[in-house]
Amino acid sequence: MQLAMIGLGRMGINMARRLIKGGHEVVGYNRTREKTEQLVQEGATGAFSIPEVVEKLRSPRIVWLMLPAGQVIDEHLDRFKEILSPGDMVIDGGNTYYRDDIRRADLLSDKDIRFMDVGVSGGIWGLEKGYCLMAGGKKNIFTYLEPVFQTLAPEEGYLLCGDVGAGHYVKMVHNAIEYGMMQAYGEGFDILNASPYADTLVFADVAHLWNQGSVVRSWLLELAERAFQKNERLSDIKGQIEDSGGGRWTLEQAIDAGVSVPVIALSLMRRFESQARDSFSNKVVAALRREFGGHETMSVDKKRGD
Ligand SMILES: NC(=O)c1ccc[n+]([C@@H]2O[C@H](COP(=O)([O-])OP(=O)(O)OC[C@H]3O[C@@H](n4cnc5c(N)ncnc54)[C@H](OP(=O)(O)O)[C@@H]3O)[C@@H](O)[C@H]2O)c1
Repeated sequence: MQLAMIGLGRMGINMARRLIKGGHEVVGYNRTREKTEQLVQEGATGAFSIPEVVEKLRSPRIVWLMLPAGQVIDEHLDRFKEILSPGDMVIDGGNTYYRDDIRRADLLSDKDIRFMDVGVSGGIWGLEKGYCLMAGGKKNIFTYLEPVFQTLAPEEGYLLCGDVGAGHYVKMVHNAIEYGMMQAYGEGFDILNASPYADTLVFADVAHLWNQGSVVRSWLLELAERAFQKNERLSDIKGQIEDSGGGRWTLEQAIDAGVSVPVIALSLMRRFESQARDSFSNKVVAALRREFGGHETMSVDKKRGD
């Protein structure tokens, strides 16, 4: 299929690469032109303005946004809505709040432009391993786009979760689970770090060991092993962890529905607290986020605000 990838950051450029490798035709567009030029070297068609994206696509056009959530998406959709045609399709693959999807799908429907929200997980590893895709929207659009999903995802790695918003809702909860899992690993290693055996324990070896058949084995723990191999006590990382929206939104949903979510709630509070106080558990969480998503970590000698 032919589609445009808008936003060639850590996620978008690798997704475009996987699509090209899978035989799709990608029109790449990025605010900073160097990334588009890079992708052209790798087989994409380059576009250097939004009208050029639309000109280079055949009907019905498919536009996949891989941009930060919020205002940026509204601005792009406003511009695309003006020049796309009825029957064209827009996919938001970023970490958008599901209620924004419902509002935007409604706005685009004025012009009969179809919308799908697709939560994407897999971070910088998705290029090689495939991306887990959580889709929301109409079944007929989902079916039409399935060749694209099949290429991006590993086997059985995509699902229509429901109508518009459902994909990002499921992704939001996925990210909140991630908060809790990373927090638990962080706290476990924090206890080991303060234990009577701290001097002799090698954390990379402990993470490796726990991945050999133990009940807490996981991909996150494999990433912990990698992070400890790079720097055994993470002394180069400041334990400051951003909260990117998903945790707050999940908590709001839990409060509205009266569902008790202590682990997710406290993991979010720890992220707030991490802005003021460093700790070993926070370093582990920051290191894990760097390993899976390429999220920037603060170095110990480069404190925010210094
Ligand atoms: N990293 C992850 O692990 C991960 C996983 C799943 C989902 N996501 C989501 O995927 C989306 C993209 O994430 P990412 O990690 O690829 O981010 P990123 O590496 O920071 O890239 C952001 C992209 O958005 C563009 N951009 C930012 N602000 C813009 C603006 N005002 N106008 C036009 N373009 C703008 C950037 O263009 P420039 O190159 O010009 O700056 C870049 O192409 C986000 O919604 C994120 O939450 C990320």
